[in-house]
Amino acid sequence: MLEVSARKVKGFSAKLADEVRFIRSWAENPLTTGAVSPSGPDLTRRMASFIETERPGQVLEIGPGTGVVTHAILERGILPSRVIALEYNDGFCGLLRRRYPDMNVVQGDAYKLRQTLADVPEGTLASIVSSMPLFSRPKEERRSLLMQAFELLPPGAPFIQFSYALVPPIAPEPELFSVERSGWILKNLPPARVWVYRKTV
Ligand SMILES: C[S@@+](CC[C@H](N)C(=O)[O-])C[C@H]1O[C@@H](n2cnc3c(N)ncnc32)[C@H](O)[C@@H]1O
Repeated sequence: MLEVSARKVKGFSAKLADEVRFIRSWAENPLTTGAVSPSGPDLTRRMASFIETERPGQVLEIGPGTGVVTHAILERGILPSRVIALEYNDGFCGLLRRRYPDMNVVQGDAYKLRQTLADVPEGTLASIVSSMPLFSRPKEERRSLLMQAFELLPPGAPFIQFSYALVPPIAPEPELFSVERSGWILKNLPPARVWVYRKTV
Protein backbone atom coordinates (compact mmCIF):
# COMPACT_ATOMS: atom_id res chain seq x y z
CA MET A 1 0.00 0.00 0.00
CA LEU A 2 2.75 2.39 1.08
CA GLU A 3 4.75 1.39 -1.99
CA VAL A 4 1.81 2.18 -4.34
CA SER A 5 1.37 5.63 -2.74
CA ALA A 6 5.11 6.34 -3.01
CA ARG A 7 4.98 5.39 -6.72
CA LYS A 8 1.98 7.68 -7.26
CA VAL A 9 3.76 10.63 -5.58
CA LYS A 10 6.87 9.97 -7.71
CA GLY A 11 4.75 9.89 -10.91
CA PHE A 12 2.98 13.10 -9.91
CA SER A 13 6.21 14.97 -9.17
CA ALA A 14 7.77 13.81 -12.48
CA LYS A 15 4.68 15.11 -14.33
CA LEU A 16 4.88 18.41 -12.45
CA ALA A 17 8.60 18.75 -13.27
CA ASP A 18 7.76 18.17 -16.97
CA GLU A 19 5.04 20.85 -16.84
CA VAL A 20 7.55 23.31 -15.35
CA ARG A 21 10.15 22.44 -18.04
CA PHE A 22 7.53 22.95 -20.71
CA ILE A 23 6.32 26.33 -19.39
CA ARG A 24 9.93 27.49 -19.10
CA SER A 25 10.61 26.47 -22.70
CA TRP A 26 7.43 28.27 -23.82
CA ALA A 27 8.45 31.44 -21.90
CA GLU A 28 11.90 31.37 -23.55
CA ASN A 29 10.64 30.65 -27.05
CA PRO A 30 6.83 30.69 -27.43
CA LEU A 31 6.73 30.26 -31.23
CA THR A 32 8.96 27.17 -31.20
CA THR A 33 7.34 25.48 -28.19
CA GLY A 34 3.89 26.37 -29.50
CA ALA A 35 1.85 25.43 -26.39
CA VAL A 36 1.89 26.33 -22.70
CA SER A 37 1.67 22.76 -21.44
CA PRO A 38 2.16 19.23 -22.80
CA SER A 39 -0.73 17.54 -24.68
CA GLY A 40 -3.19 15.50 -22.60
CA PRO A 41 -3.63 11.71 -22.75
CA ASP A 42 -6.84 11.77 -24.85
CA LEU A 43 -5.06 13.69 -27.59
CA THR A 44 -1.79 11.72 -27.44
CA ARG A 45 -3.64 8.36 -27.56
CA ARG A 46 -5.78 9.54 -30.47
CA MET A 47 -2.64 10.53 -32.37
CA ALA A 48 -0.97 7.19 -31.68
CA SER A 49 -4.13 5.31 -32.73
CA PHE A 50 -3.45 6.32 -36.37
CA ILE A 51 -0.05 4.57 -36.42
CA GLU A 52 -0.23 1.47 -38.58
CA THR A 53 1.66 -0.90 -36.30
CA GLU A 54 1.86 -3.72 -38.88
CA ARG A 55 3.59 -1.54 -41.47
CA PRO A 56 7.32 -2.29 -41.60
CA GLY A 57 9.81 0.48 -40.85
CA GLN A 58 10.61 3.01 -38.19
CA VAL A 59 8.21 5.52 -36.67
CA LEU A 60 9.39 9.13 -36.73
CA GLU A 61 8.15 11.45 -34.02
CA ILE A 62 8.60 15.18 -34.67
CA GLY A 63 8.52 17.65 -31.76
CA PRO A 64 8.33 15.17 -28.86
CA GLY A 65 8.97 17.84 -26.18
CA THR A 66 8.84 16.13 -22.77
CA GLY A 67 7.64 12.86 -24.34
CA VAL A 68 3.87 12.63 -23.79
CA VAL A 69 3.20 11.57 -27.40
CA THR A 70 6.28 9.30 -27.23
CA HIS A 71 4.66 7.56 -24.26
CA ALA A 72 1.44 6.99 -26.27
CA ILE A 73 3.45 5.66 -29.24
CA LEU A 74 5.21 3.13 -26.98
CA GLU A 75 1.88 2.23 -25.31
CA ARG A 76 0.65 1.34 -28.80
CA GLY A 77 3.26 -1.43 -28.85
CA ILE A 78 6.04 0.28 -30.82
CA LEU A 79 9.46 -0.53 -29.31
CA PRO A 80 11.68 2.46 -28.38
CA SER A 81 14.36 1.10 -30.75
CA ARG A 82 11.86 1.55 -33.62
CA VAL A 83 11.33 5.25 -32.87
CA ILE A 84 13.33 8.21 -34.16
CA ALA A 85 12.53 11.33 -32.12
CA LEU A 86 13.42 14.62 -33.82
CA GLU A 87 13.46 17.58 -31.44
CA TYR A 88 14.88 21.09 -31.73
CA ASN A 89 15.20 21.93 -28.04
CA ASP A 90 18.46 20.84 -26.39
CA GLY A 91 16.93 20.37 -22.89
CA PHE A 92 14.08 18.19 -24.21
CA CYS A 93 16.61 16.06 -26.17
CA GLY A 94 18.62 15.43 -22.97
CA LEU A 95 15.46 14.50 -21.06
CA LEU A 96 14.30 12.07 -23.79
CA ARG A 97 17.73 10.42 -24.01
CA ARG A 98 17.75 9.84 -20.24
CA ARG A 99 14.17 8.58 -20.23
CA TYR A 100 14.37 6.39 -23.36
CA PRO A 101 18.00 5.21 -23.76
CA ASP A 102 17.08 2.80 -26.61
CA MET A 103 15.37 5.50 -28.69
CA ASN A 104 17.25 7.40 -31.40
CA VAL A 105 16.90 11.06 -30.36
CA VAL A 106 18.05 13.46 -33.09
CA GLN A 107 18.49 17.14 -32.33
CA GLY A 108 17.67 19.24 -35.37
CA ASP A 109 15.27 21.30 -37.44
CA ALA A 110 12.22 19.51 -38.86
CA TYR A 111 11.82 22.20 -41.53
CA LYS A 112 15.11 20.82 -42.96
CA LEU A 113 13.88 17.25 -42.58
CA ARG A 114 15.71 15.65 -45.52
CA GLN A 115 19.01 17.25 -44.50
CA THR A 116 18.52 16.47 -40.78
CA LEU A 117 17.62 12.82 -41.43
CA ALA A 118 19.92 12.33 -44.44
CA ASP A 119 20.64 8.71 -43.42
CA VAL A 120 16.96 7.65 -43.51
CA PRO A 121 16.31 6.03 -46.93
CA GLU A 122 13.37 7.32 -49.02
CA GLY A 123 10.01 5.62 -48.57
CA THR A 124 11.07 3.52 -45.57
CA LEU A 125 9.22 5.00 -42.57
CA ALA A 126 6.05 3.33 -41.26
CA SER A 127 4.43 6.51 -39.88
CA ILE A 128 5.28 10.07 -38.85
CA VAL A 129 3.69 11.58 -35.75
CA SER A 130 4.13 15.34 -35.56
CA SER A 131 3.35 17.85 -32.80
CA MET A 132 4.98 20.73 -34.68
CA PRO A 133 3.44 24.16 -33.98
CA LEU A 134 2.90 24.58 -37.71
CA PHE A 135 0.83 27.75 -37.57
CA SER A 136 3.84 29.72 -36.35
CA ARG A 137 5.32 29.35 -39.88
CA PRO A 138 4.13 30.53 -43.32
CA LYS A 139 2.03 28.06 -45.34
CA GLU A 140 4.83 27.42 -47.88
CA GLU A 141 7.14 26.17 -45.09
CA ARG A 142 4.39 23.94 -43.65
CA ARG A 143 3.77 22.45 -47.09
CA SER A 144 7.50 21.95 -47.63
CA LEU A 145 7.72 20.01 -44.35
CA LEU A 146 4.89 17.72 -45.49
CA MET A 147 6.49 17.20 -48.91
CA GLN A 148 9.82 16.26 -47.29
CA ALA A 149 7.96 13.90 -44.93
CA PHE A 150 6.25 12.25 -47.91
CA GLU A 151 9.68 11.50 -49.41
CA LEU A 152 10.41 9.35 -46.35
CA LEU A 153 7.00 7.60 -46.33
CA PRO A 154 5.64 5.05 -48.83
CA PRO A 155 2.28 5.91 -50.49
CA GLY A 156 -0.62 5.46 -48.05
CA ALA A 157 1.48 5.67 -44.86
CA PRO A 158 0.23 8.30 -42.39
CA PHE A 159 1.66 11.71 -41.48
CA ILE A 160 -0.20 12.44 -38.24
CA GLN A 161 -0.46 16.02 -36.96
CA PHE A 162 -2.53 17.71 -34.29
CA SER A 163 -3.78 21.27 -34.25
CA TYR A 164 -6.08 23.53 -32.26
CA ALA A 165 -7.33 25.39 -35.34
CA LEU A 166 -10.55 25.11 -37.34
CA VAL A 167 -8.73 24.91 -40.64
CA PRO A 168 -6.27 22.18 -41.70
CA PRO A 169 -2.64 22.99 -40.81
CA ILE A 170 -1.67 22.19 -44.43
CA ALA A 171 -4.22 22.95 -47.15
CA PRO A 172 -5.60 19.90 -49.04
CA GLU A 173 -4.25 19.07 -52.52
CA PRO A 174 -6.46 16.11 -53.58
CA GLU A 175 -4.33 15.34 -56.64
CA LEU A 176 -1.28 14.72 -54.39
CA PHE A 177 -2.55 13.58 -50.98
CA SER A 178 -5.63 12.69 -48.95
CA VAL A 179 -6.55 14.39 -45.67
CA GLU A 180 -8.52 12.74 -42.86
CA ARG A 181 -9.46 14.53 -39.65
CA SER A 182 -10.62 13.32 -36.24
CA GLY A 183 -13.46 14.84 -34.27
CA TRP A 184 -12.64 17.43 -31.62
CA ILE A 185 -10.83 16.03 -28.60
CA LEU A 186 -12.69 18.14 -26.08
CA LYS A 187 -10.96 16.76 -23.00
CA ASN A 188 -7.69 18.25 -24.21
CA LEU A 189 -6.93 21.80 -23.13
CA PRO A 190 -7.29 23.55 -25.50
CA PRO A 191 -9.51 21.19 -27.55
CA ALA A 192 -7.63 19.79 -30.53
CA ARG A 193 -8.08 17.68 -33.65
CA VAL A 194 -5.83 15.19 -35.38
CA TRP A 195 -5.15 15.48 -39.12
CA VAL A 196 -3.82 12.52 -41.10
CA TYR A 197 -2.16 13.14 -44.46
CA ARG A 198 -1.37 10.31 -46.90
CA LYS A 199 0.30 10.71 -50.27
CA THR A 200 -1.61 9.03 -53.05
CA VAL A 201 1.26 8.43 -55.51
C1 LIG B 1 3.51 21.96 -29.14
S1 LIG B 1 5.05 21.27 -28.55
C2 LIG B 1 4.57 19.56 -28.48
C3 LIG B 1 5.30 18.75 -27.44
C4 LIG B 1 4.70 17.36 -27.18
N1 LIG B 1 4.75 16.50 -28.32
C5 LIG B 1 3.28 17.50 -26.73
O1 LIG B 1 2.38 17.17 -27.49
O2 LIG B 1 3.08 17.97 -25.60
C6 LIG B 1 6.04 21.39 -30.00
C7 LIG B 1 7.40 20.73 -29.92
O3 LIG B 1 8.03 20.85 -31.21
C8 LIG B 1 9.40 21.23 -31.02
N2 LIG B 1 9.81 21.95 -32.25
C9 LIG B 1 9.41 23.21 -32.64
N3 LIG B 1 9.98 23.55 -33.80
C10 LIG B 1 10.75 22.49 -34.17
C11 LIG B 1 11.58 22.24 -35.30
N4 LIG B 1 11.75 23.14 -36.26
N5 LIG B 1 12.21 21.03 -35.38
C12 LIG B 1 12.04 20.09 -34.40
N6 LIG B 1 11.27 20.28 -33.30
C13 LIG B 1 10.63 21.46 -33.18
C14 LIG B 1 9.36 22.12 -29.78
O4 LIG B 1 10.64 22.24 -29.19
C15 LIG B 1 8.35 21.35 -28.91
O5 LIG B 1 8.98 20.34 -28.17
